[in-house]
This record gives sequence, structure tokens and C-alpha cells, in this order.
Amino acid sequence: MEDNLTIVNHPLIQHKLTLMRKKKTSSSEFRRLLREVSMLLAYEITRDLPVGTKPIETPLMPMDAPTLKGKKLALVSILRAGNGLLEGVLELIPSARVGYIGLYRNEETLKPVEYYFKVPLDLDQRLVILLDPMLATGHSAAAAVARLKDEGAKNIRYVCLVAAPEGVKVMKDLHPDIQVITAALDTKLNEVGYILPGLGDAGDRLYGTT
Ligand code: URA
Repeated sequence: MEDNLTIVNHPLIQHKLTLMRKKKTSSSEFRRLLREVSMLLAYEITRDLPVGTKPIETPLMPMDAPTLKGKKLALVSILRAGNGLLEGVLELIPSARVGYIGLYRNEETLKPVEYYFKVPLDLDQRLVILLDPMLATGHSAAAAVARLKDEGAKNIRYVCLVAAPEGVKVMKDLHPDIQVITAALDTKLNEVGYILPGLGDAGDRLYGTT
């Protein structure tokens, strides 16, 4: 396995992902499952956040209680499927700042084209969590990371649900400093860039489009 890759194989995540992969799973069910999985992934992504203490008063006595300290977070969703992951992560970390990157895939070249970009100004001081459920060719992911680095981001983690080996390799070649966190590493891409076995088009499955 590549050393830029973390696979989160928590039983709950794996079970929910299996339900999401099934073609008969409805959009509403798919959305609900993705929200739940993203909360579980958020738990994992934030496992090593620095913790300090602050003096507080419980109803019984004062104490030094643990609180998050240090770098703040920015969650950046790659539109539109990234929003499905964003919802659950934001629910768990409501104080995080949020950014959006709009990229669409040119179906002939499979290369990303940017149509929207809005992110917090102080990315250099934040841990940036970049969200997109499917790491396929890796072209969009790598372009989004490059764009965030241009904006000053120094500490970026890429979080997805399903990754293809091809995409993981592209990320490693172009951005060896970025850790990819995924719930599953699938087999390969098909000839039009879909992940096999995958779950289909994550955006379409989320929003009921085709
Ligand atoms: N994007 C998707 O939504 N699904 C894939 O399998 C590949 C890219």
C-alpha cells in the first residue's frame, strides 16, 4: 500500500459503504449514509488534533478541562459531490471555515476545468480538509490541491470515500506531502474513468440525477 494512503476500515464505515455501493439504494438513503460515514471519517481525520486545557467550572468545582487548541480547520468541498461529505464533517466540527472548489471533468480529456473557487483567506494557518467522495483519476484532486497551495495552504488532507489506485498514485507523484484518507481502495478505473467496483457517479447518486 502507498504510504500516502490511510484506509479507515472501521466496521460501521465498511457496512454503510456496502449499502451505498448497492445500485438499488435510493438517493435519500445514499445521502443519509454518506452523512453518517462522513461523521465517522471526521472522527478519524481529527484523531491527532492538538488538545490543551482551559480552566472551567463544573457545577461542583473548578477544573482544567481538555479543549482543541492550535490550528483551526478549513473544510473545502469539491463541488458537487464533496458537499455530501461536507455536511457530516461540518456537523461534527461546526466552527470550521468552509470553502468550495467547482471543477468539472472534461469527458474527453478526463482533465479538470475550474468554474468556481471560494475559500477562507487564512488557509496558511489552517488544517485544510479537502473533501470529494471519489478519488478516480486523481486529476481533479491534484488540481484542487495545487490551487489550495497557491492560496497559501500548507497542511492539507484529502478525504474521500472510495479511491482508485491510479488516483492515489497521481496524488503521490504530484503532491507527496498530502495524506489521502479513504474508506476503501478499489480495484481500478474503467475506460471512462469510473472506479470499479465503485458506486457509480457519486453526485448523481446523491442528488438523483443521471
Ligand atoms: N466520480 C464518480 O462520482 N464516480 C467514479 O467512479 C469516478 C469519478
